[in-house]
Amino acid sequence: MHAAATGGCFRIVGGIRLSGTVWAGGSKNAALPILAASILAGEPVCLEGVPRLLDVDTLSTMLDELGLEVIRSAGGRMRLETVDPAPVRARYELVRRMRASFCVLGPLLARRGRAVVSLPGGCSIGPRPVDLHLAGLAALGADLTVEGGYVVARARRLRGATVRLAGPRGPTVTGTANVLSAAVLARGTTTLLGAATEPEIVDLGRFLNRMGARITGLGSATLRVEGVDELGGAAHRVIPDRIEAGTLLLAAAVTRGGVTVRGAVPEHLGAVLRTLGDAGFEVEASGDRVAIGPGGPPRPFDVAARAYPGIPTDLQAHWIALAALAPGRSTVRDCVFPYRWMHVAELNRLGARIEVRDGTAIVDGVDALRGAHVTASDLRASAALILAGLAARGETVVHGAEHLDRGYERLDRKLAALGAAIERVPDPRRGVAHGEGPVSRGARFRDPPDCGLAALDRSHPDTTAGRARTDRQSGSGPR
Ligand code: EPZ
Repeated sequence: MHAAATGGCFRIVGGIRLSGTVWAGGSKNAALPILAASILAGEPVCLEGVPRLLDVDTLSTMLDELGLEVIRSAGGRMRLETVDPAPVRARYELVRRMRASFCVLGPLLARRGRAVVSLPGGCSIGPRPVDLHLAGLAALGADLTVEGGYVVARARRLRGATVRLAGPRGPTVTGTANVLSAAVLARGTTTLLGAATEPEIVDLGRFLNRMGARITGLGSATLRVEGVDELGGAAHRVIPDRIEAGTLLLAAAVTRGGVTVRGAVPEHLGAVLRTLGDAGFEVEASGDRVAIGPGGPPRPFDVAARAYPGIPTDLQAHWIALAALAPGRSTVRDCVFPYRWMHVAELNRLGARIEVRDGTAIVDGVDALRGAHVTASDLRASAALILAGLAARGETVVHGAEHLDRGYERLDRKLAALGAAIERVPDPRRGVAHGEGPVSRGARFRDPPDCGLAALDRSHPDTTAGRARTDRQSGSGPR
């Protein structure tokens, strides 16, 4: 299979209205905890719809080091099987690259009785503690210490307990994943209170249940887990990425274009679609498709990013890019990560008028943005800067494409297929773009032996395999 180009920077000539149909890929934030939870499986796990991303590569490398054979093939298929249950150490070099890799802690502890996992460290979107992960595992009976920057966890057999997962800013998503993945093998019943209700957690829970776990209450803030002695394998298809779908809709909105996103779950996008309506866009959803306008300039709007079913914090920066072009004053608040504003100064370099006051971005819309060089600080900021560049007059260069590669699969190519003038070019400050995507040391690329995916395909009529391409160009089609 061909790897996508990665790294470098994006050169964009703005001012083109996007139009056409594009497919959303599999969800990064569902795939990562599911991959981590594969450590729990007593038999092979087969996944479909796993996006091709740097973060998936990083976790694949980690799982390889933790004794799993990881095989990847076309169509986002992966097969994972434990071949050596002895390793328990997740090293700093990998965990610091991607916080989601901390999600191996719960599964390692529950299945292997011991885990040595690096603390994730700093993050450009603000403080991201893991106290709720640790308190949850301690409540299940784990003995936890921190030694040399590593969490050292031991437990002969975890035992069911009542665990609270809501912190001062709401439920923790990966904390819920970590504790839930541990509780499935605990002795007795666990009740998780204040659990995350995000679709990605529901997807993880369904995957665990397919392996033989007994979880009820998925999608609500109270989860009940009847522990089992062991889990088997599973075949599972990862849900579509609601953040990618939202990004594509907002890309259409900033360019005032008309775009249909296929392969989406409209129900997961409720708050996004309502807010687009508030901003004056016509949005239609049915089946797996969501279509947005072409329209005029946006109306100013007020949004606050909150836990699901609210507006996702992972789209906060994108809303600011849209508000920058809405005549009048808009406000954007982030109740989940109130320090996530690194993109604001970069958007202002493009001529936006944004000020952050008391944790709220006050955005005074301008008639037009003007192209400039800007630098991405993190994954979602990079997407927002690309959106702004698509709308700006003249040429914008977004440096730091490697951030985008962590969590968006071929976003530049999907946008180009919708008509955008965007290309990936070598970054003069950092060397060249790589022609081949990074292939993790652990993951082998070949067709994995079937372990039930054929049956899975039949039960999902719109599965990737054999799905007709209706998009304008093959670059934006299903994979
Ligand atoms: C997940 O991060 C996502 N990552 C993030 O997406 C997303 O922004 C975030 O949830 C919120 O939706 C993955 O799913 C891999 P949290 P997570 O723990 O789980 C506080 C992206 O771009 N908190 O739900 O790390 C915390 O400070 C990434 O794809 C505690 O107080 O976020 C925050 O204010 C970025 N103690 C709030 O909870 C804890 O132990 C929510 O954080 C943990 C969190």
